[in-house]
Amino acid sequence: MEARAHIRPGELPISHEGFLAHKRFRYLKAALLVIVVSVLVYFLADMGGRHNGGTWLGYSLGIISASLIVWLMLLGIRKRAATPGQYNLKGWTSAHVYLGTTLLVLATLHTGFQFGWNLHTLAYALMVLVIISGVIGVYYYATVPRRMSDNRARRTQRDMLDAIDALNRELTQAAQPLDPKYVREVKRAIKKTRIKPGLFISIPASQLRCATTRAAKRLRHAMQSADADMRRPLEQVVAILERKSALLRRTRQHIRNKTLLQLWLYFHVPLSFALLAALAAHIISVFFYW
Ligand code: HEM
Ligand code: HEM
Repeated sequence: MEARAHIRPGELPISHEGFLAHKRFRYLKAALLVIVVSVLVYFLADMGGRHNGGTWLGYSLGIISASLIVWLMLLGIRKRAATPGQYNLKGWTSAHVYLGTTLLVLATLHTGFQFGWNLHTLAYALMVLVIISGVIGVYYYATVPRRMSDNRARRTQRDMLDAIDALNRELTQAAQPLDPKYVREVKRAIKKTRIKPGLFISIPASQLRCATTRAAKRLRHAMQSADADMRRPLEQVVAILERKSALLRRTRQHIRNKTLLQLWLYFHVPLSFALLAALAAHIISVFFYW
């Protein structure tokens, strides 16, 4: 089937099931502790004036934040390392999400709330963007169907494509007793059906455009005026077309979910590299002016 050539199975190599509640919210608790301690120290410590990144507390918070950022970046490498232990990876993702969010507090306290139109604030702004995109990703992982979130997604897609292939064979066979014009219609529907939905079209809209769905409607309509001996085989063909249309809808939704997950990573990851670069520049520049 030619439509199949358009689909490249995506890479979603790890299980995201339950990473938020991992080990009874161990990393949420750790994150809350980090926040409480840093806020307390910030307000209790006497800096002999205004807080900023250059005090001992400022440096400590800056170094902790920067180390945390480097560690968060390592998730990409950890994800791809071919070591066993999905379970462990779940822990990493859980820690990534909760400890990553604490940066909002740690880095903000590091700055002593001194922002301006400068390189330092650019690093800060990029960090906030990375965190916001992270939160969106978590929301996304939490809301797409669970089977989307791990390597079962690939198997599911293969199963769906195999089932579509099987329905195509059934269709070709069931169409044989029909008038040539209906046979042509069925063949055209098989040939013209594109499985992959375009990115800028909703799934219901792509169903409306779908050659299989339209052929099902047309043949159902034709059934009403068909001769008695043609009606039965037409009915069979329409039933298969409708089954295929329903399966196509599920397959399209599945592909859409997977594409969006991948697209999200195209934001989160490049932004985090930009952050890393701005952070390096920030650190170098503060030492330069020291
Ligand atoms: C090793 C890590 C870090 C070091 C050594 C460091 C050092 C400093 C120093 C010395 C200052 C004071 C500059 C001044 O008063 O002119 C400062 C301010 C600042 N830092 Fe950092 N920093 C680090 C990490 C970070 C991180 C992770 C962020 C956020 C992504 C950040 C964002 C800022 C901002 C926004 C300011 C305020 C700049 C201003 O006064 O306009 N820093 N940092
Ligand atoms: C400055 C902070 C952060 C940095 C530098 C960072 C960086 C990264 C990197 C490099 C990856 C690996 C992606 C890949 O290569 O596949 C990743 C994945 C991810 N990040 Fe972040 N991240 C940060 C904060 C956050 C936050 C705060 C959240 C959530 C609230 C978050 C949620 C995620 C999620 C859900 C993944 C996907 C995990 C997966 O697919 O296995 N990140 N992040």
